[in-house]
Amino acid sequence: MLCNIALRTSSRRILSTASSHTKRAASTRAFKQTEQETRKYLPLMAASAMGCFGLLSLQRSVEEEETKNAQCLFGAEKKADDVEQKFATYWPRNIMILFGPPGAGKGTHGPKIEDLLGIPQLSTGDMLRAAVSAKSEVGLKAAAVMKAGGLVSDEIVIGIIRDRITEPDCKFGFILDGFPRTLVQAQELDKMLSEEGACVTKVVELQVPDGVLEERICGRWIHKKSGRSYHVKYAPPKSMKTDGSGAPVPESMKDDETGEALMQRPDDTAAALVKRLNGYHGETVPILDHYKPNGVVSKVNANQGMDGVWGEVLDALKRGGN
Ligand code: AP5
Repeated sequence: MLCNIALRTSSRRILSTASSHTKRAASTRAFKQTEQETRKYLPLMAASAMGCFGLLSLQRSVEEEETKNAQCLFGAEKKADDVEQKFATYWPRNIMILFGPPGAGKGTHGPKIEDLLGIPQLSTGDMLRAAVSAKSEVGLKAAAVMKAGGLVSDEIVIGIIRDRITEPDCKFGFILDGFPRTLVQAQELDKMLSEEGACVTKVVELQVPDGVLEERICGRWIHKKSGRSYHVKYAPPKSMKTDGSGAPVPESMKDDETGEALMQRPDDTAAALVKRLNGYHGETVPILDHYKPNGVVSKVNANQGMDGVWGEVLDALKRGGN
């Protein structure tokens, strides 16, 4: 474009010089003047032409560079696709279980593991809550049991997971959060995976004494759409205001990113927590003994600040991690 402007400018100059020459051709003086003018403009015209040539070649080299870059990018993308295809075909899937009682931090650290490893976090709790909101058949069956802190039937959750893990985003693996919760679910999971020669590759157990869980669960507020989790004491939203007794004012609980209202889960009550913890110790903890002989269970002290927990989770995720 610069080159076009330069061309148009120099040709306009040449034309205007030529027309003055014609008009004043009868007069030698005028001719001389024109000649002088032409001489005056000659270096400018030459410079313009040369500049234009320079700009032309500059433009050409930019275009060549762009083509080269595009080819290079295309080549890199193709290489990445090839590598992805190779992993999807020859490497086993990374199948991880995020394990721990209600309030241990599965929902807090799961999304970070998801970002780190690029595999999705599959939370049966979230899937069931979505079914309840949508008032689907599964949701209608699950709603009351969930609100009371009981366990939804094995048949329902196994069906949900069976379908979910065949989706394309699970091709390199997935992080199970809240599944399996009973020995039957663990055995069914192993069976599903064995159909493709796969198995659970890591169980990260978040250990927290029951005593600290009530405060965590009853202080939790959630942004429903995104699943972002807050805590009145440990991770308060920026908007939080408290009343005279130090309790949060519900209307002030807003999501930091969208400003939308936060909510509390219907099962996040002290009464429902008792039932959830009974279920955890009675039916879920035995799953650890099921996987221990495979050498895949790693323990994390989740009774410390969130950064400390995350550091231990990172160690646990490493090959051969504690
Ligand atoms: P689900 O949604 O799976 O609930 P859960 O297992 O009880 O776990 P939570 O989501 O309550 O706890 P979390 O560990 O994710 O805690 P978070 O990180 O948010 O299940 C709900 C229900 O669905 C079940 O009761 C059941 O009915 C049904 N269900 C689901 N799966 C099922 C299955 N497989 N079979 C049958 N039924 C099934 O942390 C909690 C709070 O603590 C947050 O506010 C957080 O900010 C705070 N916090 C986290 N870490 C720390 C820390 N280190 N220090 C201080 N505060 C912290």
